[in-house]
Amino acid sequence: MDNNDIYKVGLGLWKLPESECAEIVYNAIKIGYRQLDSACDYGNEVEVGQGIARAISEGICTREELKITSKLWNTFHAKEHVPLALEKTLADLGLTYLDAYLIHFPIAQPYVPIETRYPPEWIFNPDADTAEMLIEPVSLQETWHAMESLQESGLVKEIGVCNYNSGLLNDLMAYAKIKPSQLQIESHPYLTQERLIKLAKSYNISVTAFSPLGALSYVELDMANQSETVLEQDAVVKAATRLNKTPAQIVLRWGVQRGCSIIPKSSNLNRLKENISIFDFSLSTEEMNDISQLNLNKRFNDPGHFCEAAFNKFYPIYD
Ligand code: A2P
Repeated sequence: MDNNDIYKVGLGLWKLPESECAEIVYNAIKIGYRQLDSACDYGNEVEVGQGIARAISEGICTREELKITSKLWNTFHAKEHVPLALEKTLADLGLTYLDAYLIHFPIAQPYVPIETRYPPEWIFNPDADTAEMLIEPVSLQETWHAMESLQESGLVKEIGVCNYNSGLLNDLMAYAKIKPSQLQIESHPYLTQERLIKLAKSYNISVTAFSPLGALSYVELDMANQSETVLEQDAVVKAATRLNKTPAQIVLRWGVQRGCSIIPKSSNLNRLKENISIFDFSLSTEEMNDISQLNLNKRFNDPGHFCEAAFNKFYPIYD
């Protein structure tokens, strides 16, 4: 493994239960993880911070060796709210700076004061008889310029975006004074996103793939069936047999070998180890192509679906 390899696999922190989160983060750092992918919306930044603090205090690594990302939630898109959101995230994580701060979704929602509810989530008034998901008319350009100010202040080293499509990325490049350093998108063998990744690379924007194992993340949320797993596909199983690796390692290796970073989540120590042990083998060109050909343009994380299903609000961001 070369020194940069370790930053190609980050620990995804979405859905890590608060009760186990500090321990998992600590253990992940202990076994070699150096990149952590956090967000206000995951509701566990205090515990993530506790895990980081323990690892640093035990001398396992320094703060400078870690790359810690967090994300601006939808309700903080107005320019006056962007710094408040970062301040809260830094306080919760117990950090003085972030390595990267990303716009979580290209969706602006009305402000919810931190004292009222945190994390604010998708619904504006969860206790009302007619609880609603609302949209606020704040442009992404306003939000981006506020993100630029955060980078200029030194509180974040890099800024970027998540869940943008090609059109939004092209537009962002037109108004950005500070260019985005990274784009985070759902990507796995059923959603290869080749055009968007090619576009990002042409702008020199690095790509991080979330849900790199595909459906698995969504089974527990009832947003996918176990039968939709990519791990049982012939192309994956064949490569796993040849290389004596697990199917998950093959899919994750495919993710990094195509030039992306990946952020698999696991609550299990053995799987955490498995997921970073993907740098002592490589897939052949044919194996890479066979896995890429599994593409179905199948998206599991689509606000156009889940907001309508869960919050009765149709607000698509992908066509
Ligand atoms: P677990 O936490 O029990 O390991 P995401 O796509 O959000 O990163 O989530 C990954 C999902 O896949 C989680 O449900 C996680 O469950 C599971 N998972 C993570 N690593 C592996 C692995 N190596 N093999 C099988 N399942 C995995």
